[in-house]
Amino acid sequence: MKKILLTSLLHKDVMDILYENAEVYIANDPNPHNYMDKMKEADGAILLLGKVDKEIIENCPKLKVLSNVSVGYDLVDVDTATKHGIPVCISIGANARAVAEHTLGLILAVDRQIVTWHNEAVNGIFEYKTGTYNNFELLNKKIGIIGLGNIGKNVAKICKGIGMEILGYDPYISREEVEKNDWVYYENYEDILKVADVVSVHVPLVPETTDMITMKHIKTMKKSAILINCARGGIVNENDLADALNEGIIAGAGVDVYENEPPNADAKILHAKNIVCSPHSASITKEAVMNMMQMCVKGCLTVLNGEKWPYVANPEVYEGEVWKK
Ligand SMILES: NC(=O)c1ccc[n+]([C@@H]2O[C@H](COP(=O)([O-])OP(=O)(O)OC[C@H]3O[C@@H](n4cnc5c(N)ncnc54)[C@H](O)[C@@H]3O)[C@@H](O)[C@H]2O)c1
Repeated sequence: MKKILLTSLLHKDVMDILYENAEVYIANDPNPHNYMDKMKEADGAILLLGKVDKEIIENCPKLKVLSNVSVGYDLVDVDTATKHGIPVCISIGANARAVAEHTLGLILAVDRQIVTWHNEAVNGIFEYKTGTYNNFELLNKKIGIIGLGNIGKNVAKICKGIGMEILGYDPYISREEVEKNDWVYYENYEDILKVADVVSVHVPLVPETTDMITMKHIKTMKKSAILINCARGGIVNENDLADALNEGIIAGAGVDVYENEPPNADAKILHAKNIVCSPHSASITKEAVMNMMQMCVKGCLTVLNGEKWPYVANPEVYEGEVWKK
């Protein structure tokens, strides 16, 4: 029987499938450096926030698949995995609706000051400070969506449904595809920043997207604008965003992801003005978690069966020597 290592226990329904098909080891620790002996024995690894670097891959010659219970894959050294013929399975699309709904939740929470007003209500503060708030209605407002993949498209559809105008930027998606949805196509995201009432980022964290939005970019945004990052910390420069909020350069921000996770309790971003934060929980719905786990387990078992699984971060792996053999 093949050996599969899990960084954490998954839902009972998917564990049952694993127990039927493999010998399972649950590490309860996201860092495989702490149990390299077990990692070296594994044919496959299922990662929940597990970090797999070059050293681990190079020292685990039995490893045939890494399966990530996530859409993002920045915690895995995908290039090294590809060189070793290891597909990196990801849960493409499995949590798109969940993250898109959370994005809308953050937009509303920031714009309508839900957290501040909750605190006022429970503290008996019922002063109707008409005219002192800057909250706006979303109807007819412009949302700029940077990255129109599974999540970005869901955000666009939801926001279109509540009457917002969609401005989209994604260099890998054609103008035709954007315009057929009645969204406005932009060739560069800098132009979106200048006109959008809300900007939401949905790109992967890769070298080209690191620091895609820094103080220089935020300064071009409307003073009334709201910025949302439910993608990855590091795409929006965290300290610049905190400074921009504290200085009133933009009106507010909603953030689910951080440059270091968990961030230090005194991290500037957590205490910035007009921010609503969540603890990397955008994809946590019953439906999305099950979808991700099922996809991840199916991908792992398919590859261990010697078959190609299509939902991988490195499709080029199938062109390499290992798979040609
Ligand atoms: N907060 C969370 O819990 C959570 C959950 C799921 C995904 N995510 C993050 O959201 C990101 C997007 O997820 P998805 O499912 O939509 O992925 P996806 O692969 O379907 O879409 C990503 C899109 O980004 C585009 N893109 C790539 N590079 C770009 C660039 N330089 N500029 C603009 N667009 C670019 C791609 O063309 C693609 O359309 C993931 O990479 C992940 O990091 C976060």
